[in-house]
Amino acid sequence: MVGVSVVAIVGAGPGLGAAVARRFGREGYDIALVARDRDRLDGLVRELSEGGVRARAFPADVREPERLTRALADAARELGTVEVLQYSPVPPRDFMRPVLETGHRQLTGPVEFSVYGPVAAVRQVLPGMRRLGRGTILFVNGGTAVVPHVERAGTSVAFAAQSAYGHLLHERLAAEGIHVAQLVVPGAITPGHPRKDPAVLAETLWGMHRERHGFRHFADDLGSP
Ligand SMILES: NC(=O)c1ccc[n+]([C@@H]2O[C@H](COP(=O)([O-])OP(=O)(O)OC[C@H]3O[C@@H](n4cnc5c(N)ncnc54)[C@H](OP(=O)(O)O)[C@@H]3O)[C@@H](O)[C@H]2O)c1
Repeated sequence: MVGVSVVAIVGAGPGLGAAVARRFGREGYDIALVARDRDRLDGLVRELSEGGVRARAFPADVREPERLTRALADAARELGTVEVLQYSPVPPRDFMRPVLETGHRQLTGPVEFSVYGPVAAVRQVLPGMRRLGRGTILFVNGGTAVVPHVERAGTSVAFAAQSAYGHLLHERLAAEGIHVAQLVVPGAITPGHPRKDPAVLAETLWGMHRERHGFRHFADDLGSP
């Protein structure tokens, strides 16, 4: 396993997750795929293998931090130290309620999903990155991470908290060769779109990993559909 780089994609689905797996796979990375649906993950593993990319499925729900931690530990044991972590599960629709219909109970899910999950994931992979002396942590968010939306209180509040956590990590870890960055995707991920096609976004994320400057990056102009 020595010398092989590993990317863990937390929230590995058919859109952005798969595109990032293909992009890093093309560069020789091994891929750890984390999401809840084992069958879908196995399908993606097969597809990647057919393209010559080594990938493994590690099913977990990001809202169960112990399970997520275990999945990432298994990934490191089977594939090697995780050098790149991408946190990009797609939030469910019911996190996007109007602010006046959002009480503390409606914030539990978004906070588990966008704060506890990433904190658990980062704390699991960080010791390995520090041992390697290099690493990249990529967060992907919608536009509400930057401009809160009155109809989408859950993601607005929780993405803002995730952004703060990521920014703190960025400042704290830069000197150790660990680059932490956020890609904000305003509007919808749209196949065929010049900036928001999954493959284009994967290229953007690859560039962020390679170029290693700045915390916040925008995939498109804020306010775009
Ligand atoms: N789609 C958009 O229009 C859009 C717009 C702006 C920003 N974004 C950002 O882009 C990223 C997602 O990209 P995408 O929409 O193309 O999605 P994707 O990579 O196609 O799929 C994301 C995967 O996240 C997994 N997931 C959802 N809830 C989870 C949970 N509780 N635990 C573990 N995994 C979970 C789902 O798989 P399972 O069901 O198997 O768990 C899903 O397939 C996210 O960071 C999102 O904030 C998306």
